[in-house]
Amino acid sequence: MEGVRRLLEAHVVRAYAPYSGFPVVALVEAEGEVFLGVNVENASFPLSQCAERNAVAAMVLAGKRRIDRVHVYSPKGPIPPCGGCRQVLMEFGTPQTPVLLHGPEGYVEKTLGELLPLAFPL
Ligand code: THU
Repeated sequence: MEGVRRLLEAHVVRAYAPYSGFPVVALVEAEGEVFLGVNVENASFPLSQCAERNAVAAMVLAGKRRIDRVHVYSPKGPIPPCGGCRQVLMEFGTPQTPVLLHGPEGYVEKTLGELLPLAFPL
């Protein structure tokens, strides 16, 4: 966990959040590898991308399809993923997938199923 924590903290500076001032780093553990994402905002606000979805995109590009564990970190406090990101995480996870919400003081652990009950399946 210390390694994960170091990676999360080290990448806060990479977040591009000039409009909200709210940097977020996501780390997805998938099939023995880790993938990072940060939020990338845009002057046209709705085009902003969440950290979690960027981490999932990096995972998919690397050819991985199974999320084993998710970490989300913000120095502003432990933030739960937004609704859209929960659905995107569920695409490659399961209701049992652990989601760790990290803040400056430590983390809270949830499961994806707790965060997104009755996820839309297809
Ligand atoms: N944000 C994320 O990156 N992930 C979330 O799950 C919630 C929100 C970002 C989007 C925006 O850049 C900033 O946090 C404030 O909403």
